Amino acid sequence: MNRKRTAILISGRGSNMTALIEAARDARYPAEIALVLSNRPDAAGLQRAAEAGIATAIVDHKAYGKDRAAFEHALQEVLTAHRIELVCLAGFMRILTAWFVAQWPERMLNIHPALLPAFKGLDTHRRALEAGVREHGATVHFVVPEMDSGPIIARARVPVLPDDTEDALAARVLAMEHRIYPLALKLVASGRVRVSDGRCVIAGPCEDEDALFLPGLIKKPR
Ligand code: GAR
Repeated sequence: MNRKRTAILISGRGSNMTALIEAARDARYPAEIALVLSNRPDAAGLQRAAEAGIATAIVDHKAYGKDRAAFEHALQEVLTAHRIELVCLAGFMRILTAWFVAQWPERMLNIHPALLPAFKGLDTHRRALEAGVREHGATVHFVVPEMDSGPIIARARVPVLPDDTEDALAARVLAMEHRIYPLALKLVASGRVRVSDGRCVIAGPCEDEDALFLPGLIKKPR
C-alpha cells in the first residue's frame, strides 16, 4: 500500500496530533505521519512527536514579523523537502493566506471544535454555552481560504448538559475530535473522498459506527 506522507501542523499540546499518530501506527492505515511542524518552538506536542519517533520541524512565525508570505513560503519549503502529500492542521493557530491554501487543494484538513458552520473562530465552547445550544461538537473539513469553512468530511455531536462548564464541554468535544480526525484522514488518504459542488461525497461502504460522523456518506444498499 502506498501510504500518503502526511504532515501535522500544530501550535500547542497536540492531543489531536497524538490521536493521528496512534492511528497511523497500524500498517494498514493509509497515511503515515512523516512530519510534525510547529510555528511555536515551545509547543508541547513537538516533544510528544519526537518521543513517538516522528520527524519534527519548527518554523517560528515570530521570526517573520508581519511578513505572512515569507512565513508561509518557509512552511511550504519544509513540507516540500519532506515530500508531504497531505497536511492536517491540528490546533495550528495561524490564519493561512489564499496562496498557501492553493498549494494544497483538497489535500489540507482542519479540525474545528464546533459543529460548523456554527461557531467559527475562537472560544467556541464558551460561545456555545452562552448561546444556550443543546448540541455542540467538532468538525473536520477541507481547508479553503475562508476561515473554518470548506467541505465537511466528518462531524461529531455531543450533548450540552445543564450544569456544563467550559472545561467539561471542551473535554467532551475533544474526546470526539480524537475519533473523527483519524477517521477523516483515513477516508481522504485512501482516496474515498471526492468534492462535488462544494460538498464531500464519500465512496464505498462504511462501518456503521463511522456513518454517524459522515454527512456526505452514500450508504451501501443492504
Ligand atoms: C482542538 O480542540 C482543536 O479543535 C482546536 O484547538 C485544539 C487543539 O488541541 N482548533 C481550533 O480551535 C482551530 N480553530 P490539541 O493541540 O490538543 O489537538
